[in-house]
Amino acid sequence: MAINRHIQTLDEFTIQQMRDFPQATGELAGLLRDIGLAAKRVHVEVNKAGLVDILGDAGKMNVQGEEVKKLDIFANNEFMGVLRHGISCAGIGSEEMDEVVVFDDEISNQSKYVCLFDPLDGSSNIDVNVSIGTIFSIYRRVSALGKPATQTDFLQPGNQQVAAGYVIYGSSTMLVYATRRGVNGFTLDQAIGEFTMSHPNIICPSSGKFYSVNHGNFFQYNEKVQRYITNCQKKTLAEGGPYTQRYIGSMVADVHRNLIKGGIFMYPGMKDRPNGKLRLLYECNPFAFIVEIAGGKATDGVQRILDIQPTEVHQRTPFFIGSKLMMEELETTN
Ligand code: AHG
Repeated sequence: MAINRHIQTLDEFTIQQMRDFPQATGELAGLLRDIGLAAKRVHVEVNKAGLVDILGDAGKMNVQGEEVKKLDIFANNEFMGVLRHGISCAGIGSEEMDEVVVFDDEISNQSKYVCLFDPLDGSSNIDVNVSIGTIFSIYRRVSALGKPATQTDFLQPGNQQVAAGYVIYGSSTMLVYATRRGVNGFTLDQAIGEFTMSHPNIICPSSGKFYSVNHGNFFQYNEKVQRYITNCQKKTLAEGGPYTQRYIGSMVADVHRNLIKGGIFMYPGMKDRPNGKLRLLYECNPFAFIVEIAGGKATDGVQRILDIQPTEVHQRTPFFIGSKLMMEELETTN
């Protein structure tokens, strides 16, 4: 008898997906379950912010010379701890750690996957109750199983990602992840403590009304980017304009909105910082993968983000991402 259930949890979904592949080992499903668990722990702590002494600076800088918040460290430790104790991950790279960490033990050396994380993106917004997020990227190792993972496993181009996703700690907490089969979103149902399917098969609208960019840096951008931004503002009603500027300063929230509603997000290179601010491996690649699978596009202004061969774990890149037609309009602006 077919049972009509309206609720599907993240675990149920990933296991069901795995059942379509008889050769699947369940490691990816296990990894996503572990990430979901760490995300729930971070959700609890983010929601306590203000009640307990978790707000504020930890009093040190990360490898990129940025202030580290206490919640950054908490989130990093949670993801690191859960994945280290799981059986599906051979090592992780994180915004908060100078070097990648390889889990060199008998079980982890057999694990097929490595992960890259920004444990808490937008953390400069924590103290003022604005949405923040976690971003993750999953690769199949290229090094031999049975041995510790190597740096090469982490330095693969984004087009080799097996899965990528993000968690947004917003008015509700959501986990969105993509594989080559599609993008699906799960909202945390606090009553049962489970991520449950809320946004099946997310498709990014081919165009939208939002453009997201830090206007304060306008005169730091090159002329092409300046012209595109000005065109967004000059669009007539008949052209679907003028576009609306929305920029939270928390990429997870900005790109999530544009993914669902249609729009473009830009963090261009600047005169004094030609590679911009955002990190290729754990900020841009995962979003580029998700948005491309959903039908959108992502570039560094010249080439597809997913085709960039990384040379360093913490390298930065200019970043343009969003609805297909808006991205094409940017590309043809001169
Ligand atoms: P951080 O995690 O240090 O708060 O950085 C957030 C990132 C990204 O999420 C956001 O879009 C961008 O930096 C905002 O940077 P600007 O303030 O320079 O616009």
